[in-house]
Amino acid sequence: MDQTRGLFRTKPIDPNADTGLKRCLGALDLTLLGIGCIIGTGIFVLTGVVAAQHAGPAIVLSFVLSGTACAFAALSYAELAGAIGGAGSAYGYAYVGIGEFIAWVIGWDLILEYGIATSTVAIGWSGYFAKILELIGIHLPPELTSAPLEGGIANVPAMGIVMLLAVLLSIGVKESARFNAAMVFVKLGAVLLFIVVAAPHVHPENWKPFIPPRTVDAQGIAHFGPQGIATGAAIIFFAYIGFDAVSTAAEETVNPQRNLPLGILGSLVICTVLYILVSGILTGVVHYDRIDIKAPIADAMKQLGIPWAEAAISVGALAGITTVMLVLYYGLTRIVLAMSRDGLLPQPLARVHPRTRTPVRLILGAGAAIALIAGLSPIGKVAELVNLGTLAAFFLVCLSVIILRRTRPALQRPFRTPWVPLVPLLGMAFCGYLMYSLPLLTWEAFLVWFAVGLSVYFLYSYRHSTLTQDV
Ligand code: ALA
Repeated sequence: MDQTRGLFRTKPIDPNADTGLKRCLGALDLTLLGIGCIIGTGIFVLTGVVAAQHAGPAIVLSFVLSGTACAFAALSYAELAGAIGGAGSAYGYAYVGIGEFIAWVIGWDLILEYGIATSTVAIGWSGYFAKILELIGIHLPPELTSAPLEGGIANVPAMGIVMLLAVLLSIGVKESARFNAAMVFVKLGAVLLFIVVAAPHVHPENWKPFIPPRTVDAQGIAHFGPQGIATGAAIIFFAYIGFDAVSTAAEETVNPQRNLPLGILGSLVICTVLYILVSGILTGVVHYDRIDIKAPIADAMKQLGIPWAEAAISVGALAGITTVMLVLYYGLTRIVLAMSRDGLLPQPLARVHPRTRTPVRLILGAGAAIALIAGLSPIGKVAELVNLGTLAAFFLVCLSVIILRRTRPALQRPFRTPWVPLVPLLGMAFCGYLMYSLPLLTWEAFLVWFAVGLSVYFLYSYRHSTLTQDV
């Protein structure tokens, strides 16, 4: 295949290239990595907002709608991850299949997804951390848990946890995966505990009306009704983000062609089942208009009068949110690593430390940026922006499958997306619909991010790309 020039120049494929990173992760590690990144703020926090304000008991349908979009995207991811691999995830697939410019757009989207999401989740972590300290009688001064614009000095716990994770990620990928696996069991325990303890308390009358009638609030914002299910799906999409992070581990995976598709699809299926069960039980236990919007799952236990389960679930949630941060942060470093290696971001960032075999410089630099954003900016409410960036990336991943099937029919595909182009087209339709369901303000913020990305590309990346240097 010849390499096209200009904005559509492409990179050759080498799924098993030696990159200096250590290949040590198997299918189970990857599935746990996926669950590590998936179950977190979405189920432990956002479920409350969606059930109480947008969908009511029909939150189950929001989860199904959003999960369906992810399933189509995951099938596309799995094909590309197996066939192309590389730490760059969707960015790398587009670079090989479509061309540098679209690859840049996806990479820039993924930086938004992973970077801003890590900061947002760090703030959520800090909230849970403070809550647990309160349960044992320690009260943190509010100035130390809020950003300057919110009347505080800095969100110190949020900054602290990012720094701790930076150290862990620098030490090594296997160590990080082990820590992740331990925490995943703690949070899965919390989710299962909720299911087992709460299920006997379900009262089917709490599910009525299943789709609450549409209302419009004083600001003119609509809630509930069929549109509420779609808005709820677009918000709760955040709960699914993370299965795609599995694909950023391609260069550290043994037999990536087999293990990546297993890890991506396995983690998504397990989490979807758990989400549907948890949200169905939650709305069956507590009527949707009484669901707490900050800690809905733990609070349901409080409302049921089971304080030990409230405490256990809070601890599990904290563990869960920690692993989400760990994997998102890991994903961010691997995406930036891939983009720097290609010269689209400064190349010195791509240096891998010879002893730990991790990109220490990049991990610490990204950690400093995430900690500053999490500690000093009032960015806690941008989950929807993260969703939009991620949905845009998923949309382009589905498109890449269709394009690559035409441009590279002979490419070895250990996993093939079924019914191409139908499945990727459905993925694009579902992701497009969820994007459309997000508020205008989110779109405006996204366009600003996109404009900055275009400037960086044309002022820096295009000229520094290794493909420019090779010419
Ligand atoms: N899916 C991740 C969460 O819910 C981002 O926290």
